[in-house]
Amino acid sequence: MNIEIATAAEEHIEEVLSIGEESGLSVWSREAYNSELARPESVFLVATDADSRCIGFVIGRLVPDTFVDSMAAEIYNIGVQRAHRRTHIGSRLIRSFTDLVAKNGATKVFLEVRTGNLTAIEFYKKHGFEIYSSRRAFYSDPPEDATLMRAII
Ligand SMILES: CC(C)(COP(=O)(O)OP(=O)(O)OC[C@H]1O[C@@H](n2cnc3c(N)ncnc32)[C@H](O)[C@@H]1OP(=O)(O)O)[C@@H](O)C(=O)NCCC(=O)NCCS
Repeated sequence: MNIEIATAAEEHIEEVLSIGEESGLSVWSREAYNSELARPESVFLVATDADSRCIGFVIGRLVPDTFVDSMAAEIYNIGVQRAHRRTHIGSRLIRSFTDLVAKNGATKVFLEVRTGNLTAIEFYKKHGFEIYSSRRAFYSDPPEDATLMRAII
């Protein structure tokens, strides 16, 4: 299938919301996604199919890395439509994300993931992330610990 990675636009938000819901990702409202489109520090990418439908997305931000006086990035959410998983679309999204933030000066990427989300943890490890800490009862609905991961890029 011909998949392209592109910057997210308003027309993708409906599909992003549906992927988020299907994936059980932390709930972001339409307004929250829309406001990221307007933020200069936001990095919001989509994977689109031949019909320009969004079948995956990654969202994060460039942030100051206060410890070393440089830039870092955070990933807030990544999701691929269930029917298209395990075909390396998530890999293309995360590589595009890290390439883009590296071009903007980031040297590290941070993220939090539910400790029971072993698929995502494997996926992130495959992409060079390592576990560096955890937060007890970080998530609600359902309550769960967070595993904190980072990659040097
Ligand atoms: C995590 C997610 C984005 C991965 O996307 P994907 O396109 O299916 O992943 P890829 O095909 O690029 O997989 C890359 C590698 O990750 C690992 N991986 C991916 N899915 C896996 C699974 N179900 N079990 C074990 N390892 C897995 C494998 O090492 C895989 O490489 P391989 O297929 O060559 O063995 C996808 O599973 C998803 O949308 N999950 C639901 C949302 C979610 O949990 N997001 C994370 C929130 S923090």
